[in-house]
Formats: sequence, C-alpha cells, structure tokens
Amino acid sequence: MPTIVPYTYEKKEEKSVYFTSFVKGMKVLIATQKPFAKQAVDGIVEILEGAGHTVVRLEKYTESEQLLAAVADVDALIVRSDKVTAEVMAAAPNLKIVVRAGAGYDNVDCATAKERGIVVMNTPGQNSNAVAELALAMMIFMSRNCFTPGTGCEVKGKTLAIHAYGNVGRLVGLKGKALGMNVIAYDPFVADNAVFENDGVERVESIEELYRRADFLSLHIPATPQTKGSIGYQLVMSMPKGATLVNTARKEVIDEAGLCRALAEREDLKYVSDVAPDCNDDMCQSFGKRVFSTPKKMGAETAEANINAGLAAARQIVDYFATGCTKFQVNR
Ligand code: 3PG
Repeated sequence: MPTIVPYTYEKKEEKSVYFTSFVKGMKVLIATQKPFAKQAVDGIVEILEGAGHTVVRLEKYTESEQLLAAVADVDALIVRSDKVTAEVMAAAPNLKIVVRAGAGYDNVDCATAKERGIVVMNTPGQNSNAVAELALAMMIFMSRNCFTPGTGCEVKGKTLAIHAYGNVGRLVGLKGKALGMNVIAYDPFVADNAVFENDGVERVESIEELYRRADFLSLHIPATPQTKGSIGYQLVMSMPKGATLVNTARKEVIDEAGLCRALAEREDLKYVSDVAPDCNDDMCQSFGKRVFSTPKKMGAETAEANINAGLAAARQIVDYFATGCTKFQVNR
C-alpha cells in the first residue's frame, strides 16, 4: 500500500536540535481516563524505562483535580482524549512535552503549550485502521436496520463519499472499494492528485458535489475553529435518497440543530456516530433506528490501535529527550 499522507500533518523541516548527551531520568505520566490495553501500557513502560525514564500512571480518573495533582512534578505526559488545558499546564511547571497517543489533538490547548514552550505531538496514522474498520462496520450496521428484522440494503454498488482523505479517510476508501463501493473523496489539503489516482478513487472538487453524490458519507475532518459546526442542514439535505452520514471524526463538526432539522424533514436519511451528539436523547426519541451512536468513543478501542499509538508516543518521548527530535510536533 502506498505511503499515507496524514490529513493535518504538513511535512516540515525536521527540527534537529541534537543534544550533547541523552537526557535520562525524566518523569513521564500516562494519564488516561479511558485506559490503554494492558499490553500497550506494558510496552510503553518498557520503552520509557529502558531509556532511563520513570513512568507513573493515572487511569480511569473521574475528576480534573486528580489530573492537576498528578502532573505536578512530571516532565512528559501521554494522553488520549484527556483534556490538557491551560490549567493543567499551569499545574505542571516541569512539563516539557505532551504526546496525544492518537490523531486528533483538539483536546490539547496547543496555543498555551506553545507560549509555555511545551512541545505537543500526536501519533498520526497509528490508530487509523481501527477507526476505518469501525466506520465501515457502522455503515453496514445502519444499512441492515441496526441488526433488527426487516429488509435492509447492501453497500456494494453504493457511492461512498470520503470527507477528508487523510490516514483514516484513505483506509475507509480502500476498504470500501474492497466491498464493491464506488468511492469518491474530497480533500483540498491533499496537493497530489496521484494519491487519489493510485487508490482508484475519484477526487471531487467541491464539498457540495461530495454530499450530493453520497449514499454513505464518511466524515474524517478534524475539529478546528473552521470545521466546528460546519456540517449542517444544507449539506445533509443535499444527500441522495436513503443516504447515511457516518461520523467517526468529532461530534463538534456537526451542527446538531441543522442535522436534526434535516432528519425531521427527510425520513429517508440516517445518522451514525462514534460518540453521542449532545442532543442524543432527543434524536433517539424523534428518529428511532435512523440514528445510532456509541456510548463512548470507540473508534480507536482495539488492542492493536492502543499498542500502535501508545508505543509510538513512548518512542517519540524517548527520541525527544535523546535527540530533540520534533518530527510529530503539532504546535510549532
Ligand atoms: C483519535 O483522534 O486518535 C481518536 O479519536 C481516538 O481517540 P481515543 O484515544 O480517545 O480513543
């Protein structure tokens, strides 16, 4: 398979701040409300301790105060979707690096981190396959009426439209092709047409065209000030009869009021999402089996994704302290 270009990751000059000697003895906190699989934690500890650092863990915490207390003396932090706010950074005077073991880093206040000289990294691509598999599973689940009796439809021959052709979007596209779907994609941030051509995926030039043609629309845009609330009434209403919007990205990119209005006006449309929208109760009551959402974000909830992302995070921290490598920094 060709090399995957992450959606938000611009290939920049790697900063080569080579330290004169390896920095050892850093204290690294793994702070995960939603813990990694045991194998992943064991691997992270092995990598970090093997490089001479110490590891502490805060798992399944429920109060932000617990995180504030745990960061007091740490030099590095590994998180998942845990919120790393200005308050957390203020409580961590020694903090030098935060690695979000995963793709989306909207949970980290990158601007404050930059002001404080804290490097923020993600681990692009490491959990993409898990999310892509879930997106396809959700499409099939919805097309089979949430596995309840009744005649559903097949995904074969349907148009799968990918909104943002990064690591996850691309894998969804390739898997969709294997299922016999007609795959189209939109991503203004991918400069090279060959990325689409090599995958046998049709590139479309506008969001409007993407939604207008989508039997299944799979969302893979990050949550940014520009994208938040950007998917709403107009786009959803433009989708073909019987279409399904699949959101394994972030709930924040949806304009929930607009989506609900569209679902109310069009009884043929469906919405499935990895993590419930804020208006989930109302949605379920109003639209029944036309909507479904996971109770907790579970796109990356596989042992493989935990291991890939967790170990990558640990290696990135070791490299940073050893050589100053900032290849995956997202807050330059
Ligand atoms: C990501 O951005 O990598 C995914 O949403 C996974 O998030 P999680 O680590 O909280 O499961």
